[in-house]
Amino acid sequence: MLSGKLLGSDMKKIGVLISGRGSNLQAIIDACESGDIPAKIAVVISNDPSAFGLERAQKHKIPAVVINHKDYKDKNTYELEIVKVLGQHNIDLVCLAGYMRIVGQVLLSNYLHKILNVHPALLPSFPGLHGQKQAFLHGVKVSGVTVHFVDEGCDTGPIIMQQAVPVLPNDTEETLSARILEQEHKIYPQAIKLFCEGNLIIEGRQVKING
Ligand code: GAR
Repeated sequence: MLSGKLLGSDMKKIGVLISGRGSNLQAIIDACESGDIPAKIAVVISNDPSAFGLERAQKHKIPAVVINHKDYKDKNTYELEIVKVLGQHNIDLVCLAGYMRIVGQVLLSNYLHKILNVHPALLPSFPGLHGQKQAFLHGVKVSGVTVHFVDEGCDTGPIIMQQAVPVLPNDTEETLSARILEQEHKIYPQAIKLFCEGNLIIEGRQVKING
């Protein structure tokens, strides 16, 4: 008898939103394909038509869609299009992976507590753009990665997982960013797996992990 494994229609469907290189997207693709994450990426959406992540998706036969925010008159109509495409693919979970737009009310209200983000700093320090650079310029001795639920703020949602990395004496912004990225690729798939297995419980600002 088959047990303990999600099969066919039980598998969660993930939509990944990107804006660029897509190395976190690749980590999620790899974890889904290896079975580490019991889910399938059903669609990748980029707001930037030149995002390299679109090619990564196509290589793995994942539908890749461009929804360019510049083509819409405002954030609501832009996000309505995203929600429409996510709906067409019956998405259960939205993963932001280097998605460089602040999520608005339309997307949030349609996917409440179903949007995750990876941020390249130890939140609540250094939210927003260029978290690695902000931390480096500030002179911190430890930085890291945060995976969190998305709420209406900028990188303010309940924290699921964090991983610290040291800032070494000879670091540059680039070497620190590379050390952080390596950890992003590890803990983001872990957090997504926990979500897909139903093992994350939000209690106010706390996220409890089952088991
Ligand atoms: C990653 O470092 C991610 O944490 C960061 O952008 C990079 C995208 O790389 N995201 C943010 O800064 C969001 N505020 P990737 O496209 O190779 O995954």
